Amino acid sequence: MRIEGKEYQTIWFENDVVKIIDQTKLPHQFIIKELKTVKDVINAIKVMEVRGAPLIGATAAYGMVLAIIENNDQTFLKKSAEDLINSRPTAINLKWAVDRMMSKLSGVNSNKILDIALSEAKNICEEDVKFCENIGLNGLKIIEEIYNKKKDTVNILTHCNAGWLATINWGTATSPIYHAHKKGIPVHVWADETRPRNQGANLTSYELNEEGVKNTIIADNTGGILMQRGEVDMCIVGTDRTLANGDVCNKVGTYLKALAAHDNKIPFYVALPSSTIDWNIKDHKDIPIEERNSDELSHMEGLDEKGDIKKIQIYPKTSKAMNLAFDVTPAKYVTGLITEKGVCEASEKGLKDLFK
Ligand code: MRU
Repeated sequence: MRIEGKEYQTIWFENDVVKIIDQTKLPHQFIIKELKTVKDVINAIKVMEVRGAPLIGATAAYGMVLAIIENNDQTFLKKSAEDLINSRPTAINLKWAVDRMMSKLSGVNSNKILDIALSEAKNICEEDVKFCENIGLNGLKIIEEIYNKKKDTVNILTHCNAGWLATINWGTATSPIYHAHKKGIPVHVWADETRPRNQGANLTSYELNEEGVKNTIIADNTGGILMQRGEVDMCIVGTDRTLANGDVCNKVGTYLKALAAHDNKIPFYVALPSSTIDWNIKDHKDIPIEERNSDELSHMEGLDEKGDIKKIQIYPKTSKAMNLAFDVTPAKYVTGLITEKGVCEASEKGLKDLFK
């Protein structure tokens, strides 16, 4: 998608380095950062220079490529794989991508290993682009249906950033929106600010602006009243891990939006590629929920009046704060799952029928 009119993907490989858009600097600075070692990749995932479930999976896949360039040794590769998987706990795409890389690389001692790794990392990225595009085409039908009934702007609420910046291109939740916009359907997005890291304001609104999609940032607590006022036609969010029973783990606050949508009879969709499905965990209580540093709550970063980026403390110095990063929306509150293969019910049957 575009930034200042120029087409980008979120990650690419050039001259033995991985290039990423540093998302900790957006929207105020657009910086392309080079990752040269597996440690650089682990750090980029931890500090969220790259984030979003599909993108951290793809970045970890390239991390395995860098591990081979650094030290082509199976013990080092195995340790790198473990460290990459442990860099963030909740998004299943991370383990999915590293396991997929290891299934190609484990035990390979020939000098072809680097080519194999590079080609598989590229496959993961290309596949994600295709999947996100298909998610868009499948979700477009739902937006079209609402538009055909309403004959007026379709208002879509989203939480966090499940946009192209969270994937390789298109995004998951935003892909149906971009497809609708390109088709000339009037859409307007309510972008939840998404405290504490403000991915909705800093990333979703930013990328929608760059594509010319109308949007308004709202405080995280505003969605409920907008739904009561009839100003939300549908919600579409992303997910970091969706269980085989249809329970959806996503950015903290998603659950409360789903409850409000349910109470107001507003369709609540979740968009995901199949790499985000966890077929193993049965009970959502077993999903590892990331708890991040409380500094992310107590401090805020922004531009000062001179245009310089400043970090300030906003809480009393002596107060304790807690920063859980994800929550789980039970399947019963999810109207449907928009996947690369079609839209299905958020249930074991729905998912198994699509992904046999
Ligand atoms: O903590 P983040 O910014 O990595 O969380 C991202 C989300 O919660 C997204 O909704 C999710 O990864 C889906 S990305 C297409």
